[in-house]
Amino acid sequence: MQIGKVKLPSPFAIAPMAGMTDTAFRRLVKRHGGCGLVVTEMVSSEGLVRGIDRTLEYAEYTEEERPIAIQIFGGDPEKMAAAAQIVEGMGADIVDVNMGCPVPKIAKHNAGCSLMREPEHAASVIAAMTKAVKIPVTVKMRAGWSEEERNAPRLARMVEDAGAAAVTVHGRTAAQSYSGSADWSLVAEVAEHLSIPVFGSGDCLEPQDVIDRMRMGVEGVLVGRGVLRNPWILAQAVDLSAGREARPVTLAERGQFLLDYIELLLAERVDEARAASHDRWVINKIRALGSWYTKGLENGSHLRTAINAAESLPHLRDVVSQFFLSVPISIE
Ligand SMILES: Cc1cc2nc3c(=O)[nH]c(=O)nc-3n(C[C@H](O)[C@H](O)[C@H](O)COP(=O)(O)O)c2cc1C
Repeated sequence: MQIGKVKLPSPFAIAPMAGMTDTAFRRLVKRHGGCGLVVTEMVSSEGLVRGIDRTLEYAEYTEEERPIAIQIFGGDPEKMAAAAQIVEGMGADIVDVNMGCPVPKIAKHNAGCSLMREPEHAASVIAAMTKAVKIPVTVKMRAGWSEEERNAPRLARMVEDAGAAAVTVHGRTAAQSYSGSADWSLVAEVAEHLSIPVFGSGDCLEPQDVIDRMRMGVEGVLVGRGVLRNPWILAQAVDLSAGREARPVTLAERGQFLLDYIELLLAERVDEARAASHDRWVINKIRALGSWYTKGLENGSHLRTAINAAESLPHLRDVVSQFFLSVPISIE
């Protein structure tokens, strides 16, 4: 499995998720196996070009995450080309373009999924980027803007002609946001007509879903919310595709994941301005993950409530340890 010259160790990848797939989370998922590619949260091309610290932080990654794609959003071909050069200069393996974000704040700037409404312009963004960099330029799109504008098959061919090295399709429209279900027959239609690799995305919650979707003719699958619920899903999908049983994951391992995530977040470099609120930031990050991670767990709603009520890191570690390991490890 390859995107341009970039070899992927597995066809299964973590989908980009703003606010969730930070470098600490990606590293942990990667350490648990099965992950062929990680994609950063979307970062603003405008912010990259202007060198805004906060934007650069979102684009940070570590060597162990390779191969890594940095996802950028924007609608101006020149700025997107300049941002792609910055991404290349940062050493990323791939630069990915967000053509799927339905959030009005992004879409109204002619970026995210609204690019799908102007296919010629979208293709010109990709053409400008592929001229500007040597690393592969990839595109992540939705099925289309709305039920009446499901143009992923056409747009995917246009961006391929403009030099894109791979395309991912999330089989929902922007109008659907996250409601309904992803249309994998549309994803399959895109895959059938492109010669570059096509990845599918949407609604893989169990490892078997990933295997079933691979049969739709895609080269790989990006898993989003399924990874937030079960960070072992990619490793388990690899098990299944190799004809093995999916590895079991104990409650203790699930608890340890959260404890390790807390430690990695605490070790993140923070500037002086943020140092004072670093603990609070970590607590908020665990709360955000907790709302997904607790789904499907027995008594998960109790855990979610307890995580949301924890006001300090020792308290939070205690809550996690008691729930998963039945051992309070409070240090206070
Ligand atoms: C919280 C959240 C944030 C997301 N942020 C991004 C993003 O920054 N860029 C992007 O291309 N897609 C983003 N997505 C879409 C996912 O990458 C994925 O395509 C979608 O969730 C469908 O896959 P799933 O059903 O496996 O979650 C986001 C999804 C979620 C749930």
